[in-house]
Amino acid sequence: MSARVLSLEEGISESVRILRDGGIVGLPTETVYGLAADAFQALAVARIFEAKGRPLSDPLIVHLPEAGWLDRVVGSLSPALTELVHKLASDFWPGPLTLLLPKHPDLPDLVTAGSDLVAVRVSSHPLFQEVQLRLGSPIAAPSANRFGSISPTTAQDVRIELGDRIDLILDGGPCKHGMESTIVALQENCLKVLRPGPITNDQLKKYGHVVFFGHALASPGSLPGHYAPKKELQIINTDIKERFFDPLGGYLAFSAPPKNIADGFASIEVLSRNGDLCEAAANFYTALRRLDQSKAVILYAEPVPEEGIGVAIMDRLRRAEYGSLFGTGHHQPLASKK
Ligand code: TXA
Ligand code: MG
Repeated sequence: MSARVLSLEEGISESVRILRDGGIVGLPTETVYGLAADAFQALAVARIFEAKGRPLSDPLIVHLPEAGWLDRVVGSLSPALTELVHKLASDFWPGPLTLLLPKHPDLPDLVTAGSDLVAVRVSSHPLFQEVQLRLGSPIAAPSANRFGSISPTTAQDVRIELGDRIDLILDGGPCKHGMESTIVALQENCLKVLRPGPITNDQLKKYGHVVFFGHALASPGSLPGHYAPKKELQIINTDIKERFFDPLGGYLAFSAPPKNIADGFASIEVLSRNGDLCEAAANFYTALRRLDQSKAVILYAEPVPEEGIGVAIMDRLRRAEYGSLFGTGHHQPLASKK
């Protein structure tokens, strides 16, 4: 089986039909492509884990068409938390902010991997919105890649990752942000950033005390090695940039590279010629994927400035480096010997 790639009207109605029948579909969002299932059909949700090869201990984000649907998937909140959620929702939704809140008991436990917290967001992508409104049910959707590998920012990336495992991919063109949503756990006056993303710490500051948790601690799926290319990746020290070359290497440059770099590698990708961090984020996964498919045998990456969405890029880059060397860092239980 190979997934079909459809667009617009035909794709929307076919996506809704498949989701209603308990199938899974690759859908565009403004961050990365998601692998969608009806969040209230546990069997469909199980198919997501199977298709991605994702451990059942790693919970999924639930997507809603608007904040008004929150009480379908979120349990009761204190008045202070309700107020904070409403402020954040009205300022950032639809958009790339995911909130971690108490789970509604009716939402299948598989979605949250047994946790009593659920991650929720409202996507701004018009195709995602349309599918969701016609389906009339919340959508569980992780990024549409095999577990631990590079996230997809085009329909073609989804086809490469999961094309023989899923029913349909809806083509909405390249994703605007190219980087997954910011995940924030909320506690009255405190916002714990579990995964940096397009909504930056600076933007969150006015809503309370912002703590950067680094996601390995609190987010079970956020393993040290993730987003990894198949080839070995090394983040270089920029001090050596002026004299660095490797004719067998692939090079991921943040901005326009010096001549020794431009001429010194088998393959080179530039995230943003004029050093724009948002453009760099949008190109990041595509560039990494292209280098992984190039003739280079080893990959090198320049660090980017760690400010704004640069924090999210460096988070992904470090995990990609770790994952390329050591795997995801996910420990499967050892099979018992009989
Ligand atoms: O932009 C995005 O967030 C994309 C699009 C498709 O919406 N989705 C996405 O999902 O990146 P995924 O599954 O690739 O990453 C979600 C992260 C995982 O690290 C997961 O462990 C964490 O969110 N997460 C989800 N539910 C959680 C929960 N209940 N508690 C703690 N962490 C949670
Ligand atoms: Mg992911």
